[in-house]
Amino acid sequence: MFMNDILVTEEIVGSDMDALKAAFAVTYEPELWKSPDKLRKVIGDYRALMVRNQTPVNAELIAAGRKLEVIGRAGVGLDNVDAKAATEAGIAVVYAPEQNSISVAELGLGMMLSMARMIPAADQSTKAGKWERKKFTGTELFGKTLGIVGLGRIGFLTAMRAKAFGMSIIAHDSFVNPDSLLVSETGAELVSFGDLLSRSDFVSCHLPETPQTLNIFNGDAFSKMKATAYFINTSRGKVVDETALLKALKEKTIAGAALDVRAKEPPVAGELEKLENVLLVPHIAAFTQEGQERVVRCVCSDVAAILRGEAAKNFFNFSKPRK
Ligand code: MLT
Repeated sequence: MFMNDILVTEEIVGSDMDALKAAFAVTYEPELWKSPDKLRKVIGDYRALMVRNQTPVNAELIAAGRKLEVIGRAGVGLDNVDAKAATEAGIAVVYAPEQNSISVAELGLGMMLSMARMIPAADQSTKAGKWERKKFTGTELFGKTLGIVGLGRIGFLTAMRAKAFGMSIIAHDSFVNPDSLLVSETGAELVSFGDLLSRSDFVSCHLPETPQTLNIFNGDAFSKMKATAYFINTSRGKVVDETALLKALKEKTIAGAALDVRAKEPPVAGELEKLENVLLVPHIAAFTQEGQERVVRCVCSDVAAILRGEAAKNFFNFSKPRK
């Protein structure tokens, strides 16, 4: 056993983390992501770094990680990890590409139902002693069009579940092959981004954060949506121009929005938080017992595999370190 094997800079817990701690020298500092300077000073001692989405694993940190063999990301999004710098440095990046997908898809469906049936507002009203049945006459999902932006794993699972509600599926994804199972199984009609926005009753976003997707939901995009349509984002906050969304919600050019993710997390409370036609939750889509158990198991076993010189199963760049 090395003196310092693994540094964990965010909360990653469960029996698989306990097993990792028993097998390796793990330094568990779940608040360290808040102190990038301190992290940069200590990273040089470790063979592995384990993070969630709050630790900025940038080129500078990677360069300081002279002994690093593997970076483990407990989740799917690699927007906080400079995977290119890691690859150039010969460091393996392992992650959990699909282990929380069901949880995310289920939250998206929950948000759609919550908005269509005004569940949060009806709950608040009833708890306030009122009995406002007419006020909470909602809409059905049945027969409505769901527009999926990004038909990857989560978009696919969302579409399959929405089909059970009798929704029609349209999708926009520049990378999906029209002959792919993602298309044939969901029965999705592949359309342009503009057509998706103008035809959908619900627009659900499942895009990664990349230079191409930043602010893709801008004023122009919201202006194309129906005044009765709802927008749902469980992907990454920076794909939405929040000022443009605020305007669309205030002027009621769209019916409502549900956001799990924000451009800045945690966000600074502002005008969005005051609106009635927005549903806000704190980036919890992946947070279910089952989803987290799978994510932690996946990333712990792959970090352990690499440190033992074995092949990882869920890797972004390579299954074994190159240095
Ligand atoms: C993910 O990327 O897996 C989810 O958004 C949750 C997270 O960021 O940890």
